Amino acid sequence: MKVLVTGGAGYIGSHTVLSLLENNYDVIVYDNLVNSSIESIDRVEKLAGKKVEFIEGDICDKEKLSKVFEQFTIDAVIHFAALKAVGESAQIPLSYYQNNVYGTVCLLEVMQQHKVHNFIFSSSATVYGEENDVPYVETMKLGTPSSPYGASKVMVERVLGDLAQSNSNFRGVSLRYFNPIGAHESGQIGEDPKGIPNNLLPYVAQVAVGKREKLGIFGDDYPTKDGSCERDYLHVMDLAQGHVAALDWLNRHSEFSGVEAFNLGTGNGVSVFAIVKAFEKAIDKKIPFEVSPRRTGDLPAFWADANKANKALNWQAKRSVEQMMADTWRWQSTNPNGYLV
Ligand code: NAD
Ligand code: UD1
Repeated sequence: MKVLVTGGAGYIGSHTVLSLLENNYDVIVYDNLVNSSIESIDRVEKLAGKKVEFIEGDICDKEKLSKVFEQFTIDAVIHFAALKAVGESAQIPLSYYQNNVYGTVCLLEVMQQHKVHNFIFSSSATVYGEENDVPYVETMKLGTPSSPYGASKVMVERVLGDLAQSNSNFRGVSLRYFNPIGAHESGQIGEDPKGIPNNLLPYVAQVAVGKREKLGIFGDDYPTKDGSCERDYLHVMDLAQGHVAALDWLNRHSEFSGVEAFNLGTGNGVSVFAIVKAFEKAIDKKIPFEVSPRRTGDLPAFWADANKANKALNWQAKRSVEQMMADTWRWQSTNPNGYLV
């Protein structure tokens, strides 16, 4: 089976491409490299001992996309390509709607033209917005995320729902990721943020390796056990395997049409202080930190109800917080400058 992976050179994409190759899927990566490096694909090929077809291109370029669908017989698309920095999305919202919403519409149009109907979308826990109670369950109504980034994910979920209503051949899966962290256990591929990291783990890892002085913990007065925010962190390789499980599910359910959403998380909330402690334990070194003001838009605590994915996809996040920390450190300490070699 041939799978087109948009954004496959990025953090989650590269780990998923590796899992796909290991499960005997053929992979074509389509990525404009706006937030990634081709080096990730070279490393994935070495780890898997298999080749990946790489095409540099933008999902908004329908002509180029069309040529890809003409050149290859594509059975399914996994769609990672998007901009993902929450803060930046408030500064340049039009770029976020252009890439994340218009880009997805372009991709779906080209898929329709070429009669490709299997689609897996990178959604996010952010679609539950601020209205829903925890744990988040797929039966809840979509919420109103505070950022344009989050809104772009809600919009695409709406687009998929409307498309499925209009076309009974469409077979879509929205995977709502919670907080993916960690790296492949080899330490060869991992998260390589450009500039100052926005997310917790890359920041902690850069403090540990000496690239940043200290971590700012955004608030210690939330109504949680230790006052810091709680999130559902899951290992990126568990997440990668969730995509393989979703593809297998589509293959098993040939009668299915429509769109189905699945939460991919562990079902446990872990605090920022607990993450810092776990990282210190993994590297046997203190992480300098200070408590700083709350970050606008942060919710106190959220985690997944992951029962639907457990049952239907036969998928479970298996790797422990300890392993997430150890693998983050292996990647960061052996690649202090990421893919810049
Ligand atoms: P990433 O930035 O590492 O990967 C995204 C990839 O898409 C990059 O390789 C980038 O170059 C490419 N890309 C961006 N715009 C493109 C375009 N217009 N055309 C072609 N390629 C383009 O991000 P990631 O963390 O791997 O996230 C992958 C997906 O998962 C995104 O859709 C993101 O919104 C979603 N997601 C991520 C997280 C997270 O915590 N990392 C959480 C929830 C959802
Ligand atoms: C953020 C996004 C969310 C997105 C997710 C994955 C916001 C409001 N939400 O989620 O939409 O889907 O990333 O990309 O940005 N923290 C610190 N210090 C730091 C960095 C983070 O204390 O330097 C804290 C945050 O306050 C948060 C936790 O660590 O409580 C995790 O932060 P982060 O990794 O950015 O993920 P989310 O905020 O859950």
